[in-house]
Amino acid sequence: MNRRSFLMTSAVAVTLPSFGLADRRQVLRAEPVSVQILPDGSPPTDLWGFNGSMPGPEIRVKQGQPVDVNFENKLTQPSSVHWHGIRIDNAMDGVPGLTQDTVPVEGNFDYRFLAPDAGTYWYHSHDRSWEQVARGLFGPLIVEEASPPDVDHDLTVLIDDWRLTEDGEQAGGFDSMHDRAHAGRLGNFARALITSTAQVRQSDRVRLRLINAATDRVFSVDVTGVTGMIVALDGMPLTTPELLTRLVLAPAQRVDIIADVVSEENVEFFFPANGSPYLLGQIAVEGTNMSRSAAPIAPLPPNRVAEPDMANAARLDLVMQGGAMTSRMMMRDGIWAFNDISGMGEAPMWQFEHGQTARISLRNDTRFAHGIHLHGHHFHEVDPIGTIGPLRDTTLVAAGEQRDIVCVFDNPGNWLLHCHMLGHQTAGMKTWVQVA
Ligand code: C2O
Ligand code: CU
Repeated sequence: MNRRSFLMTSAVAVTLPSFGLADRRQVLRAEPVSVQILPDGSPPTDLWGFNGSMPGPEIRVKQGQPVDVNFENKLTQPSSVHWHGIRIDNAMDGVPGLTQDTVPVEGNFDYRFLAPDAGTYWYHSHDRSWEQVARGLFGPLIVEEASPPDVDHDLTVLIDDWRLTEDGEQAGGFDSMHDRAHAGRLGNFARALITSTAQVRQSDRVRLRLINAATDRVFSVDVTGVTGMIVALDGMPLTTPELLTRLVLAPAQRVDIIADVVSEENVEFFFPANGSPYLLGQIAVEGTNMSRSAAPIAPLPPNRVAEPDMANAARLDLVMQGGAMTSRMMMRDGIWAFNDISGMGEAPMWQFEHGQTARISLRNDTRFAHGIHLHGHHFHEVDPIGTIGPLRDTTLVAAGEQRDIVCVFDNPGNWLLHCHMLGHQTAGMKTWVQVA
């Protein structure tokens, strides 16, 4: 099979399970699962998941409320859970070797934390993540606003790709050095997994929470059958919502949309691959909502994030290095590096005073794009003329590109800073910082 081309599109609805909101304490059990991700009639695929499903159940809490999860490891490998994008207590961040020990086979770990920010987040394995996330160990984590926006449906759209063999099994080669030195493990089959819902009607107002759960693929996405606004990025509301056009999501990035259904038939999600759009998934539309008032789409209430102190900001550089097609491809300890260091050093890359602002220039000296993710904080992207832009937890830096980010380091602890193309992370593009 040609790994570069996608398999036939399928628009089968796979629905996301969710936790009951009633019980506080939840068990999240990592285990092997068999899932029909290929179209009906094709064989199911053996994956890993949580509580019998892939993706894992959608966890929903109100802003400021606790998440209380007992993680059970029923896999054949150690594992851990990271709560991506949550400005979390460091001890709950789920990073083996930095914030906790790995959870052994048959072991368990209590994750308890408050969710300070409303928005769209997700959880995923953070041990051998290049393999464990590729096998399906992830799920949505939704933090609801105290008074959520007025919509008829609030839907999660998890996008992923898989590398499958003819008989629907995951292809091996998770450890491929060739993949790691290039764009990572890219799948040959992709789809959007969408939460089940009551019937969506024409003129309904919908909130769509897109999450890119792929290990390495940057997804462009065209959403058809709706008109509306982008209201949040990586969980954080935009001060001024932007008109919905083509979306680009690096691995781990999220986009929230609020939009009105204009189609009489389907809302569809397309990946505009190689000029021939690939259908990732669809939501069927039936009937018409006669009572929806088309009030303007308002910004979401902001989360409380500290304002950067630009006048006293530390100026730092982070240079991405290595990979195929560069002179420094094979470094001593790995394929990729930040600032000449491949992998986690003994010492942090930087140490910050509590509450210190830093402006960091991210410079991509490689031939590939990287999605740079900082744990425990959100940062602002700075545009080329110096304007402070939206808050994100993961920023996509194209080959050869330079982008500044500004962050207020106000969450104490040891925090990972890494490329979220998980093959790159594994092969050295990761470091850590320390906040007093
Ligand atoms: Cu989404 Cu270090 O991870
Ligand atoms: Cu990378």
